[in-house]
Amino acid sequence: MNKEIKIAIHRREKSFSDYWIDWCENNNVNFKIVDAYESNIINEISDCDGFMWHWHQDSYADQLFARQLTLAITGMGVKVFPDVNTSWHFDDKLGQKYLFESLGIPHIKTFVFYEKDKAKDWINHATYPLVFKLRGGAGSNNVKKVRNKREAKYLVNKAFGSGFPVVDVYEVAWQALWEYRRDKKFIKLLRFGYYFIRAIVGLKPKSMSLRERQKGYIYVQDFMPNNTYDDRMVVVGKRCFCIRRMCRKNDFRASGSGIKIYDHSVFPKESIALAFLVAKKIGTQSIAMDLVYDKNGKPRVVEISYCFVTDKFNGYFNEKLEWVNARVTPQIFMIEDFMAAIEQKEYFKTAVC
Ligand SMILES: Nc1ncnc2c1ncn2[C@@H]1O[C@H](COP(=O)(O)OP(=O)(O)O)[C@@H](O)[C@H]1O
Ligand SMILES: [Mg+2]
Repeated sequence: MNKEIKIAIHRREKSFSDYWIDWCENNNVNFKIVDAYESNIINEISDCDGFMWHWHQDSYADQLFARQLTLAITGMGVKVFPDVNTSWHFDDKLGQKYLFESLGIPHIKTFVFYEKDKAKDWINHATYPLVFKLRGGAGSNNVKKVRNKREAKYLVNKAFGSGFPVVDVYEVAWQALWEYRRDKKFIKLLRFGYYFIRAIVGLKPKSMSLRERQKGYIYVQDFMPNNTYDDRMVVVGKRCFCIRRMCRKNDFRASGSGIKIYDHSVFPKESIALAFLVAKKIGTQSIAMDLVYDKNGKPRVVEISYCFVTDKFNGYFNEKLEWVNARVTPQIFMIEDFMAAIEQKEYFKTAVC
């Protein structure tokens, strides 16, 4: 490893930084731990070649400034993970709608309205069912099927009235109930009881206490029927990791079901190729994308995210779409690629001198 290269890492326990810090220690990398929330963060980073921060969608603070900090640091000539292309659309389905359309990425037809009258007119002539979503959310928490005009009208009135909380506490309780049904463990039943009571008495999760209600827009998209799973493709550099996530029982939503298939033989080559293409078009260091299939069996991107929960895979597909059998951790590939990219920059600096 080039000893002159120095990187800064924001440490958050149980996040990607655990892997990054271990990797730096094991590979004798010159690194320092920084705190992105400190006011002097720019000064702290100014003697570094790179900055890595696994910022999170549930953090009010991260949502407030992570994108802006990334852009500012990039302007200093310091390499960032996740960089601007990788992260500007994170947890933002509105941004992703425009991104997919602008880059010609196969997506699901999506409609967004910022004016109540236009939304009301549109729902009178729409074809149902539709899928309603908030711009942010995970585990299907903010994703609902809209069966008819009456339900759509209710959502439009709410979107342009009191709005929606960033986390639906009843959905959290139903998720806990689903986990009990799936696992049949008494502890999960207790968990459901806990979240259900919290929902009834109106106790909100700490993570949402500062976040604003979602209002002033409505996001709806065509419903893709007969999908009993979605395919989550994760592309880190030149590797594609795959997970098939089965839908919950009697539900069209796979995200958050916790029922996963890793057998690489089930993934269509077309989906793997699409995953690489999407990563290339957007120019990402790391991207997880959820694919569902249209009536012709063609994959369509539902949403993208630079981070994800799985950290162990039994292999990946390379860019030739060949399976590489190896027990691997994508989070380690992130830092390996990151260091290699910085070294490349160093090489150019030296070459120019
Ligand atoms: N338009 C759609 N048609 C059919 N299924 C969908 C559609 N949009 C989402 N889904 C299903 O719902 C799940 C959650 O949707 P997604 O937009 O990925 O939300 P989240 O951010 O909560 O993961 C997906 O994993 C997929 O199974
Ligand atoms: Mg999803």
